[in-house]
Amino acid sequence: MTAAAGQAAPGLLDELRALLADETDPTANAANMAALIFQRVPRLNWAGFYFLKDGMLVVGPFQGLPACTRIPLGRGVCGTAAQRRETIVVPDVHAFDGHIACDSASRSEIVVPLVVSGRLVGVLDVDSPEPDRFSWGERVLLEEAAAVFVERWRG
Ligand code: SME
Repeated sequence: MTAAAGQAAPGLLDELRALLADETDPTANAANMAALIFQRVPRLNWAGFYFLKDGMLVVGPFQGLPACTRIPLGRGVCGTAAQRRETIVVPDVHAFDGHIACDSASRSEIVVPLVVSGRLVGVLDVDSPEPDRFSWGERVLLEEAAAVFVERWRG
């Protein structure tokens, strides 16, 4: 674990590795990971997954208010991060052209693409009601958490 990730939420990556250690089912692991992030990372209003199905991102396990079910690639923060296969940190969602507002309380957001053996399988999406919530440390933490999830993927 890097120092930056350790500072953002101490122990979270170890907890995640333990939680996912004996399971390879993507839905089960996504459900537990969304719950862990939502409980252990402060000041969030949504944490969860979208999975790529037939060219669309379809909502998966999450914590928070009900969310839009399908997002086309290239649309919103999720679809843009998925298309580019790059993490996107949005300090102010109102300033991101095309942001999809599922919960009007969201003010900042981070989306990490999930790539298994070169294949995009979905994204991890985390929202906060606080502007500019996601530091470099949180970005590294969530990217490392996504890597743990991807390592366990047997979909
Ligand atoms: N804001 C996202 C949509 C998903 S919700 O935040 C859960 C987007 O612009 O892609």
